[in-house]
Amino acid sequence: MANAKGQKYSATEQLLQLHLCFAPARILTAALQLEVFSHIAAGQKTTVALAKAAGASERGMRMLLDALTGMQLLQKRASNYRLSALARRYLVPSEPDYCGAMLGDDRLWNNWTHLTEAIRSGQAPVRVNERKTAEDFFPNLVRGLHVMNRPLARRLAGELLDSRRSGGLDVLDVACGSGIWSIALAEADRAVRVTAQDFPKVLELTRQYAVRHGVEERFSFLSGDLNEVDFGANRFDVALLGNIVHSEGADSSRGLFRKMRTALKPGGRIVIIDMLPNNQRTAPPFPLIFALNMLVNTARGDTYTFKEYCGWLRQAGFNRVRKVNIGSHSPALVATRG
Ligand SMILES: C[S@@+](CC[C@H](N)C(=O)[O-])C[C@H]1O[C@@H](n2cnc3c(N)ncnc32)[C@H](O)[C@@H]1O
Repeated sequence: MANAKGQKYSATEQLLQLHLCFAPARILTAALQLEVFSHIAAGQKTTVALAKAAGASERGMRMLLDALTGMQLLQKRASNYRLSALARRYLVPSEPDYCGAMLGDDRLWNNWTHLTEAIRSGQAPVRVNERKTAEDFFPNLVRGLHVMNRPLARRLAGELLDSRRSGGLDVLDVACGSGIWSIALAEADRAVRVTAQDFPKVLELTRQYAVRHGVEERFSFLSGDLNEVDFGANRFDVALLGNIVHSEGADSSRGLFRKMRTALKPGGRIVIIDMLPNNQRTAPPFPLIFALNMLVNTARGDTYTFKEYCGWLRQAGFNRVRKVNIGSHSPALVATRG
């Protein structure tokens, strides 16, 4: 780790930095909860005006605004604050690419406070992927994921359509959230038809996104728990599993791969978008840290290596497992029904 002048921090300073890593996350969440970015977008510029608009103390607000400036979310000239380009695009609720609903949500934070106990017991304090919690928890998350995954989804769509002539692929989007991965396919090829599956309340949101992207007439919806719904047989050319294996865990995901083999037509492709640590589980940090996110939020979730995926996919009847670079921390995995 290096400081602002590019000098290396001492070992103990590095430990202190690690210890305080939580602070920027809390600062961002507090700013969203106090609607600081909206107030600045609406024309408030000073500590006094922003404290009044947010119903906050001037002392606290001044410190918050300066910290946000240090984090490059605001810019400060004399005693006036304005939004950085990043904050204006992603943190103002009236903007189409707003991600603040996800970033201002306290629930992940609350669950992470139980990490030590969860490591001791191997049990999560809550299970965000069970229907009742999921329908409450996921809408905020998937709104953010929609924006964050959109460029990756467009790149993946290019890869999937590139290697095949178009002509009406039937696509199944499992645990679709906003539907971003299948929406990108439907936008790239007007002959693509999509079956989008998720819990009923989340599917209401998926429908809104399909309408917003002008692809709703080619979308149909399959509502219910992925462990219970019938995906049918020989129906699909592509089955998308976007960010779902990590919360389902190994046994359920292997069962899901078998169901996808049945649901796909011969030669159909399963596509997995997830977090992949290397085979030794030593890097990169994000998928390794994310495994603990699954420990505190799900009953059986984890992150899995390419080697593990290859074994499971082959056992489920897939071959030609390949990595597709989508410009993210992890590649997508594509395998073909044997
Ligand atoms: C992390 S989000 C991923 C959404 C989308 N696939 C993406 O990559 O942006 C997980 C989604 O899986 C859904 N989900 C989780 N467990 C599920 C289950 N057992 N049955 C149906 N949907 C589930 C959630 O409702 C949520 O929309």
